[in-house]
Amino acid sequence: MDNKPNPPRDTFSGKVVGTIGASALLAGLLAFIVIPTVTGREDGLDVFTALCRAIGLTVEAPSPVNGHTAGSTVALDPATSALLAGGDPEKGAVIAGDVCVSCHLTNGDTSDPNTIPTITGQSARAIYKQLRDLKTGARESEVMKPIADGLDEKQMSDLAAYFGGLSPRNFDNPEVIAISERTRALIEKGDASRALPACAACHEARAGGPWEAPNLTGQYPSYIDAQLKAYAEGKRRNDLYARMRIIAKKLTPQEMRELSAYYNAPAYPF
Ligand code: HEC
Ligand code: HEC
Repeated sequence: MDNKPNPPRDTFSGKVVGTIGASALLAGLLAFIVIPTVTGREDGLDVFTALCRAIGLTVEAPSPVNGHTAGSTVALDPATSALLAGGDPEKGAVIAGDVCVSCHLTNGDTSDPNTIPTITGQSARAIYKQLRDLKTGARESEVMKPIADGLDEKQMSDLAAYFGGLSPRNFDNPEVIAISERTRALIEKGDASRALPACAACHEARAGGPWEAPNLTGQYPSYIDAQLKAYAEGKRRNDLYARMRIIAKKLTPQEMRELSAYYNAPAYPF
């Protein structure tokens, strides 16, 4: 017979409460201090700005850090949703005809597929996000910066409604391209051995990815390739949480070429 008394109940519940309390404290520290500080540094944010963003305060793009501009300050909050919902495509069409036509034509396609992306039927959220980042300097482009500087928030949402409302661009590469099984698997399933998620999980309409993920189908290969390189080298740094920089750094140049070709042509085998 074991006559040892049971431990008093209050000691036991004290331990439970203590453990829960310690876990909550740890989770809080991680969520509001450690993770924002570390990811903020990746985005070139100082600690104060990173902490403000973690608790939901929007802070405008701070001045450049280490020669780099800070990350994106766009957030999908109720104000942004309302702004986008109020976009007027007719007003957008007028600005497009005045300002964008020489490069993106009036139908959103391109006057130079080697350097200028198509934006026809691009998601309105992606268009707005990019215009705003180009204006704050979170995304750097000598060509687009002065143009974005001339647009206010309402005009950006009108342009997003206009170009986003056009039909998406179809594949125009008549060649059926062959891509390696490995790259196809990367697009559709990801690559667990490199901790790479499937591109298809985030891109394309209804993919269910982050709200600002652009559609890639019909985009010109040289543009996709250039953007993947820019993310990999950290020259494009406006992706929230460094999502694309982390992915692109793991891709080989050959994979980038195949991925770019894939989004502009039907792939074999179907
Ligand atoms: C002088 C040429 C030119 C004009 C005019 C121009 N753009 Fe651009 N646009 C570009 C180039 C070049 C890029 C790609 C920048 C880069 O490589 O980072 C671009 C990129 C963009 C992007 C980002 C697309 C993406 O998929 O990331 C958007 C959105 C955009 N432009 C919208 C507009 C709108 C709206 C207007 C008119 C208000 C406009 N642009 C006027 C040349 C131009
Ligand atoms: C976790 C979601 C996610 C995954 C997985 C993902 N992307 Fe992205 N991607 C995004 C988001 C969000 C953006 C917009 C970033 C920004 O704001 O600049 C983006 C942007 C891009 C762009 C720039 C497009 C433009 O119009 O400027 C390219 C190219 C791209 N991704 C290619 C890929 C490829 C190829 C893969 C697979 C190897 C992939 N992405 C996987 C979320 C994702």
